Amino acid sequence: MHFDYFMPVRLIFGRGRLKELSRLHLPGRKALIVITNGKSMRHLGYLDRVAGYLKEQGIEAVVFDRILPNPIETHVMQAAEFARNENCDFVIGLGGGSAIDSAKAIALMVKNPGTYWDYVKGLKKPGEDVLPVIAVPTTAGTGTEADPWTVITNTAVNEKVGFGIKETFPRLAVIDPELMVSVPAKLTAYQGMDAFFHSVEGYLANVAQPLSDMYALDSVRRISTFLPQAVADGSNLQAREEMAWASTQAGMVESISSCISEHSMEHALSAFYPELPHGAGLVALSVPYFSYLLKKNREKVTERYLHIARAMGRQGDNPELFIDALKDLIAAVGLDNLKLSEWGIKKEEAEKLAANSFDAMGFLYKLDPVDLDRADAACVIRDAII
Ligand SMILES: [Fe+2]
Repeated sequence: MHFDYFMPVRLIFGRGRLKELSRLHLPGRKALIVITNGKSMRHLGYLDRVAGYLKEQGIEAVVFDRILPNPIETHVMQAAEFARNENCDFVIGLGGGSAIDSAKAIALMVKNPGTYWDYVKGLKKPGEDVLPVIAVPTTAGTGTEADPWTVITNTAVNEKVGFGIKETFPRLAVIDPELMVSVPAKLTAYQGMDAFFHSVEGYLANVAQPLSDMYALDSVRRISTFLPQAVADGSNLQAREEMAWASTQAGMVESISSCISEHSMEHALSAFYPELPHGAGLVALSVPYFSYLLKKNREKVTERYLHIARAMGRQGDNPELFIDALKDLIAAVGLDNLKLSEWGIKKEEAEKLAANSFDAMGFLYKLDPVDLDRADAACVIRDAII
């Protein structure tokens, strides 16, 4: 065994705990609250509640509300300038992964020079001066409340890249499953499957460690049981709570192990097709992807596929059991008819998308349990496009 373990986020987890923002120690006197350009954070009253709790502590807040579902670098730079002009000393990401990831990227850019892409591409090294980030997730899927990763798209170069440093871990995450009951069924399914793949990929990565294994299998177990329930009845608080914890655990898996190339391939799809939800892209890729790994090197993945299959309630010694259980889970959450062609993606683009996945996020291929090259990636992507 040979590993690092670093998980610096204070997690406040439980139903109704959002209100504790009125008395939790917060790292400043003026917050930038980051939300997406959708209406839900205002309609559901979450934005007013957060601002109101801060006010009870005498903390001021200003709001940046332009973030897109697939967030872009331009908005990160605009929000950082806004936070600088407003003298904000910490950033709150309120919403799904796009709001929280953006909050982290904005926190980095308030005091560091240059463009965000300079840091993503390693052209500049950030100083220590990253504003503290508070994460308040209202969806269960990205796990971004428990990891340092930001996923931002640079539209000028069609690249969607994950990036993070130890300073972009949130200081504090308030995970209140009651905030998640209003997520519509289809989004619940997409987001929950994203969490599922964080855990499965982190379990298969060649950098997995004992604690990531523990979190990964436990979250796979919870998602297999409770995601179909949360999709069937969004008001089922137990299912929402189980999914919230499964997603946070999957975020910890991403922090101490890693996603693998399935995520590189998905980022290529949604870099070119920003309307494609991340979870939908992953679901479409998944059966071809995990089947391909098994076909390419059965011996390498068999044992871990069996462990995952067991966590999904399957007994036996055939690694295809995992693929079968995956297909059943996808059907149980109503995503078995998903077609990438509905988003306009064509089979002829497989090579271009495979190349983009290597150019933008090639580092995850190095963590795969089975080596994949560009031709392998093109095969997987071609199979996934129907
Ligand atoms: Fe993801």
